[in-house]
Amino acid sequence: MTTTASAHPNIALIKYWGKRQIGGNIPATPSLSITLDTLTSVTSITNAAKDELLLNGERSDDAKVFDYLTLLRTEFDVPPMHIDSSNNFPTAAGLASSASGFAALTTAINHHCELGMSKAQRSDYARQASGSAARSIFGGFVGLNEPDWIAEPLLDAELWPMQVVIAVTDTRQKSISSTEGMTRSAETSAFYREWVNTTRDDFKAAQTAVADRNFPKLASLAENSCLKMHAVMTTSVPAMLYWRPATLGCIEAIRQLQADGVEVFFTIDAGPQIKAVCEPAFAAQVANVLTKVPGVLSTTTVGLGSGARIVDG
Ligand code: PMV
Repeated sequence: MTTTASAHPNIALIKYWGKRQIGGNIPATPSLSITLDTLTSVTSITNAAKDELLLNGERSDDAKVFDYLTLLRTEFDVPPMHIDSSNNFPTAAGLASSASGFAALTTAINHHCELGMSKAQRSDYARQASGSAARSIFGGFVGLNEPDWIAEPLLDAELWPMQVVIAVTDTRQKSISSTEGMTRSAETSAFYREWVNTTRDDFKAAQTAVADRNFPKLASLAENSCLKMHAVMTTSVPAMLYWRPATLGCIEAIRQLQADGVEVFFTIDAGPQIKAVCEPAFAAQVANVLTKVPGVLSTTTVGLGSGARIVDG
C-alpha cells in the first residue's frame, strides 16, 4: 500500500532566522508566511525492508530526512519505509523545498502509519525537521510564534488572494544550509540581537496588517524584515551574500513599480531568487517588468494555496 501527500512551499513575510539553543529546533524569532499554490512537493511512502529515499527520482542519503525518521520513532511506531519525494521546482535554491517536503512527509507518514496526529501536532513535528515546514501544514497566511512554536492559520487564501511573481536569477543549489547560516549569524553578526528583538514587534504588527488586509502596512513590514535578515546575513563572518546583480535589479524595478502606484513588495530568502508579492490586478504587469530585468532567467506567477494534504492512500 502506498500513501501520497502533497504540500506547497511557503514564503515568510516576517522572517525566521536563528534558533534557540534549547533543542526541538525552536526558532529565535516568530515568523509570518504565505503558503503558495502551483509549486508542489509530492511524497509517497510504501513499507520496505529498510529505509530508502528517492529525491526527485534519485537515491539520496539526506541526513535531515533519516534523522527525522529517527525522531518520529522515539514517539511512534514507524516501520522501515521507501520514501519517494519530488518537487516541481528547483530544490534548495531559496524556494523552500524543505518546507513543502517535510510538511508532505509528515502528513504522509501520519496517514500511512495511522499516528492520529492533529494538524497542530504535524506542525510541531515538521518544525523539528525544518522550521519553515511547520508553516506549510497550513494554507493562506500563517503565523509561527511563541510560546509553543506550532504554526497557526491567520487568514484563508480566499480572503486575501495575493499573487506572487517569483523571479529566478540562479538555479544552482545554495552552498550553506540554513541551520549552519543561522548558527553563524548568531555567533558572529553584530546585528543579531537587535534582529531577534525587533522581529517580535514586527510579527505583531504584521498580524494586525493581515487581519486588516492592509497592503501598504504589510508591504513595509515585509520588506523591512527581509532587509534586516539580509543585513544580519551579510554582517555574519564569513558573510553570506545571497544576492546576484539581478536580485538588486529586481528590487530597483519593484521600487519603480511602487512609485507608479502598483501594489507590490519584494521578499528574498536564503538564496538569490526574488519574490514579488502583489494584489492580483497587478500580477501581469509585475511579471512583465521583472522578466525584462537583466539576469532574470525566468519568472513564475503563483497564487496562495492550501495546507499539506493526502492525495492518495
Ligand atoms: O526552515 P529552514 O531551516 O529552511 O529556514 C528558513 C529560513 C528562511 O527561509 C530564510 C526564512 C523563513 O522564515 O522561511
